[in-house]
Amino acid sequence: MACGQLSRAEALACSGCRHACHVMLYSDTESQLFGKIPIRHIILMQMRFDGLLGFPGGLVNPSEETLEAGLSRELLEELGVALPISIEDHVDSCHAPASSPSSPSRLITHFYVKKMEEEQIKEVERAAASTAPDHGQEVLGMVRVPLYTRKGGGGLAPFLSHSFIGNARSQLVDSLLRLNLVAPEDLHRALTHSLEIHS
Ligand code: GTP
Ligand code: MN
Ligand code: MN
Ligand code: MN
Ligand code: MN
Ligand code: MN
Repeated sequence: MACGQLSRAEALACSGCRHACHVMLYSDTESQLFGKIPIRHIILMQMRFDGLLGFPGGLVNPSEETLEAGLSRELLEELGVALPISIEDHVDSCHAPASSPSSPSRLITHFYVKKMEEEQIKEVERAAASTAPDHGQEVLGMVRVPLYTRKGGGGLAPFLSHSFIGNARSQLVDSLLRLNLVAPEDLHRALTHSLEIHS
């Protein structure tokens, strides 16, 4: 894992640290692209106000709310739905990448994963595009991650070549591997190809 040196408890013990919690919501699906390419899983990310891709979630103040309650509050703002998040959904916590080597990051990012039913995911997408308070402001739209890999290179590789906030890209890649959502050899090929796309 790229991150995970900090347990949830160690992270909370850091005085003077700020905390942010984000979640990967996903489901299985039987649907197919063009009636022939299995989509296999729906994974939700978002286009943020700053033009970067990231997961839904945000800053949490642990002196006012638990990490999980704060994450649920952020989901209500960004997705327009009340989704309970529990400690069991927690994956890892780590220091955000430092903006410069001389100033180590005081931001700890906590990552969660929650598996849902396909219908629930579709309900989240509908709410995020209509009733979510942050829609069109902090969140420009939800996007699904294309997981298929093609000889011609379409799908996961070009998606991974976009720009991501913080370590959202490695949170995604680590999750694909850990949850076995993409075959390791396909993921490896997509990662290699994604680095060649803009070079
Ligand atoms: P405000 O309501 O404007 O404060 O935004 P927010 O609370 O929704 O915060 P945001 O989601 O932007 O997350 C806070 C910080 O966490 C960001 O400035 C990034 O540094 C970092 N961050 C944002 N999204 C992600 C993500 O998906 N993964 C990781 N690892 N970090 C993220
Ligand atoms: Mn078409
Ligand atoms: Mn927010
Ligand atoms: Mn946010
Ligand atoms: Mn916020
Ligand atoms: Mn906000």
